[in-house]
Amino acid sequence: MKWNTRITNLLGIERPIVQGGLAYLAYHELASAVSNAGGLGQLTAMSMDTPELLRKEINLTKRKTSKPFGVNFAIGQHGRPFEHMVEAALDEGVDIISVTGGNPKPVFDMVRGTNTKVLVLTAGKRQAVKAEELGADAVMVVGQEGGGHLGKDDTSTMVLVPQVVEALTIPVIASGGIGDGRGLMAALSLGAEGIEMGTRFIATKECTHAHKAYKDRIISSKETDTVIIKRSLGAPARVIRNQFADRIQEIETRQEGYESLKDYISGEANKRFIYEGKDEDGFAWAGQVIGSIHDVPTVAELFDRFDEEASKVVEKWSEQKGVIT
Ligand SMILES: Cc1cc2nc3c(=O)[nH]c(=O)nc-3n(C[C@H](O)[C@H](O)[C@H](O)COP(=O)(O)O)c2cc1C
Repeated sequence: MKWNTRITNLLGIERPIVQGGLAYLAYHELASAVSNAGGLGQLTAMSMDTPELLRKEINLTKRKTSKPFGVNFAIGQHGRPFEHMVEAALDEGVDIISVTGGNPKPVFDMVRGTNTKVLVLTAGKRQAVKAEELGADAVMVVGQEGGGHLGKDDTSTMVLVPQVVEALTIPVIASGGIGDGRGLMAALSLGAEGIEMGTRFIATKECTHAHKAYKDRIISSKETDTVIIKRSLGAPARVIRNQFADRIQEIETRQEGYESLKDYISGEANKRFIYEGKDEDGFAWAGQVIGSIHDVPTVAELFDRFDEEASKVVEKWSEQKGVIT
């Protein structure tokens, strides 16, 4: 199957599929596997403690793939400075940078004059329009089904994508709730020119940093097995439902603010689940799409499956099997 959209052309990739930033999970193993399989793999810069570590991961990725890959910056995260990390990525000549979680203007100021493309991940139309004004090459827009941090408005991918497509002239990448070829075709039908996925990539062989217990939990869960935490802090984010997440929600009902929550929502609490496999003593980001993830393939196997599923959609529509008469 040969894919041709403004996103494949812009990013120089074979499939309109972007691996989203995945905090503490997306290192060179996953990023290079996604890029080698024809999508856009990404490293997650803000999970790395120093610019030197980021440079090291970039170079390990370059060693494993000659194809384009990106570096993701969740710039709002941990209130940490990000400029020296962006500088390191630019210095290493990365093809693509993606930004989320805060005002991306400082990143645009740094990228200006280089060949690096900038994608901005937003959860709303207003921010998407702003990203285009600032000079984004494409916008990714994530609906409330997605894993990890979300918008505050609870707008679904289905509702958000066509409205953002209408509001922008640059290409749009749909994100949130997509896990197979049918989802990809649905996103393209809504006017998106590519998709971004997070949760589906955790349950792949090359996501080597994710503990088996995390992958097992993803493949055995139903679509109703996620909950939103941190809403009381104005930063809603979707996690796998477990006793720990229930406890967070319970504390949130008391409206006691960040201090009462900080140990529960820390990077350490996240790592206990995703690295150590303590799946009731920590939290793990995941989206509602877990309900339709049932195995742990390689990224290449996953993408082959996407092609088969997409072909079936094309066949179904072209033969008009009673769908349109
Ligand atoms: C475990 C996990 C960690 C994430 N970390 C980041 C991150 O560091 N930066 C970012 O831009 N997005 C992050 N996201 C969001 C994803 O890139 C993507 O937008 C989202 O997962 C899409 O929804 P889906 O999970 O339904 O595919 C994360 C998502 C998950 C599940």
